[in-house]
Amino acid sequence: MWNKKNLLSVDQLSRADIEFILNCAKILEPLSGRGNKLNICKGEILAEIFFEPSTRTEKSFQAAMYTLGGDVITHKNIGSSIEKGETKADTVKIMEQYSDIIAVRDPEELTVKKYADLVNIPLINAGDGSNEHPSQALLDLYTINKEIGKLDDITIVFMADLKYGRAVHSLIKALRKFSSNKIYGISPKGLELTGIETISIEELKKIRPDILYVTRIQRERIPPEERDKFSFRVDSRVLNMLPNNTKVMHVMPRIDEMDPALDNDKRIILFKQARHGLHTRMAIISILMGHEDDVLAIKDIHKKN
Ligand code: CP
Repeated sequence: MWNKKNLLSVDQLSRADIEFILNCAKILEPLSGRGNKLNICKGEILAEIFFEPSTRTEKSFQAAMYTLGGDVITHKNIGSSIEKGETKADTVKIMEQYSDIIAVRDPEELTVKKYADLVNIPLINAGDGSNEHPSQALLDLYTINKEIGKLDDITIVFMADLKYGRAVHSLIKALRKFSSNKIYGISPKGLELTGIETISIEELKKIRPDILYVTRIQRERIPPEERDKFSFRVDSRVLNMLPNNTKVMHVMPRIDEMDPALDNDKRIILFKQARHGLHTRMAIISILMGHEDDVLAIKDIHKKN
């Protein structure tokens, strides 16, 4: 049973917990249009601590808290006392003094769990090294459910760097909480993930996936002497192997593994997927702040009207 005190790993969540978070996101999505501001987190502050770069996670958590009526303070390595030698642990404890909930990203695996033990407010793992990225997995599930209409009996193929991709690790864990999902991988040799069947690009034709989930090569996590060994490209040859109803997702950022010229293909839904980060993170913050009844009450108001 999820304690709803923090979100560190998909391991904490049951199928019912995931369905509850996605249901809250669904309630909040129509209220997250530009110009909308809710009162659910009025007077509350989210502290974002990013010891590693981010665009989507940082900005969508920020937009989520603003839309919920709260405020945000941010901490980055550059320009902070980290540059004077302050420890990351002290930094997290200091940010706790000024906030009600923390989202933290760290380049090292499992560090975020240690930060959660140091503070007495909710803490969200916004990505820890190659380990996990649970809020990304939740937004990916939200996207899959919206696009495919189910989370059971899905065929999904993960592509590229499955060894170091934390979003892949969290999403696979989450998909295994549902029934009959078939999970495959296509990777350059050396970047495979043990525990899932590796297939060739040509086998996409036979497998007919519901979802093709692309990742970038995580160069920063690969030993420097091996970095240039790996390359990967999703091109029209790959897309031609897919049925018309397959959806192509990407954790992003994309670097050179997927040509933006392909974006007109209706199967490619990267930007919709990223937008669902806002809806899902609104749900995560609301629940961790103890406001789930306020979210469910919105649904009841909709029902009455
Ligand atoms: N998907 C994702 O985690 O992107 P960022 O690294 O930009 O946050």
